Amino acid sequence: MQVALLTLFPEAVEPYLGASILAQAQQKGRVGVRAIDIRDFTRDRHRTVDDRPYGGGPGMVLKPEPVSDCIEWLEREHGPYHKVLLTPDGVPFRQAKAHALAGIERLLLLCGRYEGFDERLREAYAWDEVSLGDFVLSGGELPALCVLEAVVRLVPGVLGHEESAVRESFEQGQLDHPHYTRPPTWRGRSVPDVLKSGDHSAIERWRAGEARRRTQARRPDLVSE
Ligand SMILES: C[S@@+](CC[C@H](N)C(=O)[O-])C[C@H]1O[C@@H](n2cnc3c(N)ncnc32)[C@H](O)[C@@H]1O
Repeated sequence: MQVALLTLFPEAVEPYLGASILAQAQQKGRVGVRAIDIRDFTRDRHRTVDDRPYGGGPGMVLKPEPVSDCIEWLEREHGPYHKVLLTPDGVPFRQAKAHALAGIERLLLLCGRYEGFDERLREAYAWDEVSLGDFVLSGGELPALCVLEAVVRLVPGVLGHEESAVRESFEQGQLDHPHYTRPPTWRGRSVPDVLKSGDHSAIERWRAGEARRRTQARRPDLVSE
């Protein structure tokens, strides 16, 4: 998978791209990620990426031309991209969308800033418009990194066997079961005996029951979906 992350702040995303799972995925050659500075596609000497909103009001709006020039350059160089636009009014991001995106060959993530994008840019391309949730951040960089990490974890060969995503929350329509590690007793709280029993089918039953209980209690909406 090749990923182009379009941003006005590549320096904000690069450290995260260079650490942990995202770095390992790139080192293993499973994913190539490139942070691209939208400002490099401006044509004026001030490298202007934003302007005042028509109709007045506070804040600035991202101009469409640098973004479209960037997209069109990328597509000329590499071919078509599946385009994801990060925006609070997009479709809330879910694990199912992460799975859908994990199978894509070329993924483009567009991060907004200021008041967001000129509406015509949204109309000009077939965007997958994605929201990270019902809150407003100052930019799309954190949402883009969240989406990217959720997707990259699902690309075959990225997670080791022991970290396999198959049993995690939202994969089977429910939350994960509780986890324990050493010490066997901590602050008077003991690890459930079944987990120390060595009886793998009893452990599986316990985990399945706990996952069901936890889902019912915390996310009944997942049960009824
Ligand atoms: C300050 S926000 C713009 C908010 C916009 N005026 C609104 O009220 O919906 C600037 C940029 O941050 C990103 N952003 C902020 N919150 C987000 C969220 N919940 N999900 C995805 N992207 C978000 C988007 O890329 C957005 O264009």
